[in-house]
Amino acid sequence: MSSADWGRRSGIWPGARPIPSPTPGRFITLEGGEGTGKSTQAELLVAALKARGIDMLASREPGGSPGAEEIRALLVSGEPGRWDGMSEALLHFAARRDHVERTIRPALRAGRWVVCDRFVDSTIAYQGQGQGLGAEPLKTLQRLVIGDFAPDLTLVLDLAVEQGLARAAARGNGEDRYERMGEDFHRRLRQAFREIAAGDPERCALIDAAGDPAAVHGAIMATLAERWGIAP
Ligand code: TMP
Repeated sequence: MSSADWGRRSGIWPGARPIPSPTPGRFITLEGGEGTGKSTQAELLVAALKARGIDMLASREPGGSPGAEEIRALLVSGEPGRWDGMSEALLHFAARRDHVERTIRPALRAGRWVVCDRFVDSTIAYQGQGQGLGAEPLKTLQRLVIGDFAPDLTLVLDLAVEQGLARAAARGNGEDRYERMGEDFHRRLRQAFREIAAGDPERCALIDAAGDPAAVHGAIMATLAERWGIAP
């Protein structure tokens, strides 16, 4: 199929040049601290891309495959000190390996686009900066576990810590282990996500998440229009 046909079929503007991608599908991740609205934005993004004729899969981390969802339960509930940083990072990477091999790669190979709520950047921010492991040991683990597999685009949602924690507390779904890690921890997270976005501007876009969901969605669609020529 020519790129113009592909463009028409997928809702991408005719004439837009698709970015080179290692697979026919594309892998988009959403990142950010607690209460930044990632899950809402992931849903809105999946719906918007489906409406443009793209075959979409929504996923999340920790989780996204049956085994990884079981590991999720060990991570998101219980006492904040339940795991030390390295045990916790290993659990996240075990879940991620299963998720990538059984869910994400097969979907991309089938030409689907995958939108995932969190991925490796969350480990770098939460375990690396929040829990103090530093980025380097985690990047070594990353290479061992998933090689050079990486998102095509990462949307980093940025919000003041107080505002995010207030939104997260209002959710009250029992998955609050990380929310209870203290305000300092969450400040380190915000800083870490901002640094990740600034350090890899080709892959990442920093999105101001302070507005209402429609405004934030508008900013995300504007990013996809600018980078990939997708009609906003
Ligand atoms: P969620 O609340 O966005 O569903 O994510 C679950 C929690 O897991 C969230 O508080 C962040 C945390 N987390 C990490 O600490 N490291 C990771 O690698 C991932 C993917 C999530």
